[in-house]
Amino acid sequence: MNTPGGFGQYIRVPAAWVVPLPAGLTLRESMILGTAGLTAGLSVDRLSAAVAPERGPILVTGASGGVGSLAVAILAQLGYEVLAVSGKTDAGPFLKGLGASEVIGREQLANQRDRALLKARWAGAIDTVGGEILAAAIKSTESEGVVTCCGNVASAELNLTVYPFILRGITLAGIDSQSCPMSRRRKVWSHLAGDWKVTGLEQICQVVLLEEVSGRIDRMLQGRLKGRTLVDLGG
Ligand SMILES: NC(=O)c1ccc[n+]([C@@H]2O[C@H](COP(=O)([O-])OP(=O)(O)OC[C@H]3O[C@@H](n4cnc5c(N)ncnc54)[C@H](OP(=O)(O)O)[C@@H]3O)[C@@H](O)[C@H]2O)c1
Repeated sequence: MNTPGGFGQYIRVPAAWVVPLPAGLTLRESMILGTAGLTAGLSVDRLSAAVAPERGPILVTGASGGVGSLAVAILAQLGYEVLAVSGKTDAGPFLKGLGASEVIGREQLANQRDRALLKARWAGAIDTVGGEILAAAIKSTESEGVVTCCGNVASAELNLTVYPFILRGITLAGIDSQSCPMSRRRKVWSHLAGDWKVTGLEQICQVVLLEEVSGRIDRMLQGRLKGRTLVDLGG
């Protein structure tokens, strides 16, 4: 993250940083997945180790974003019922096309600060936004559920009591794709290229030219993008 060269065609880095392209993925597919795919995969890996599909639905927040949309697609492919939380009123067809069974408006998870626990509604959650939405996701998770946390687009604050943890045994699992061990990276990339491979990756992705990146980043920061952006560096 602290190394320049992100939009270059070539970058020289220590060999220990590099994951070989797994069989089953093209270079283009690997870049549509990118860090968002690795992060969604690490989240699914943590959640699926403890919560089987039979346990009930899984909530995904920031669902139309890069990490969220890939998490929805991977979970649906693994047989989970997926509840997708989105702030975009027009995201329904996109999210249902990825395999979500229900789309929940973001506002439904906001403003739940006064309650320490809420009615249990899902077996686990993959949160990409933080703040009040993550807090509400934890408070509505069934006993022994797992909630993963990777992002802070809504807020870096997390206001909770200990009750979800001591009365329902919820696990809050942090996801850090930057420092995760190489063995776990390779394991997740091999899933992404094999049994978790997302069909229709091209439909999640829009291609832009290098000169369009700045405007695209503005729209991303405004939370207006869906899915992933691939930058065409023009050969
Ligand atoms: N821990 C790690 O290793 C790791 C790795 C990669 C990314 N991240 C972090 O994970 C988060 C998601 O990354 P991404 O690549 O998926 O980003 P992204 O493509 O920009 O998607 C973020 C999504 O969050 C939702 N959102 C935007 N503004 C919001 C707000 N104010 N309140 C609530 N929801 C909001 C939107 O989805 P809806 O409109 O559908 O709600 C948006 O599409 C970021 O914070 C990123 O920095 C962490």
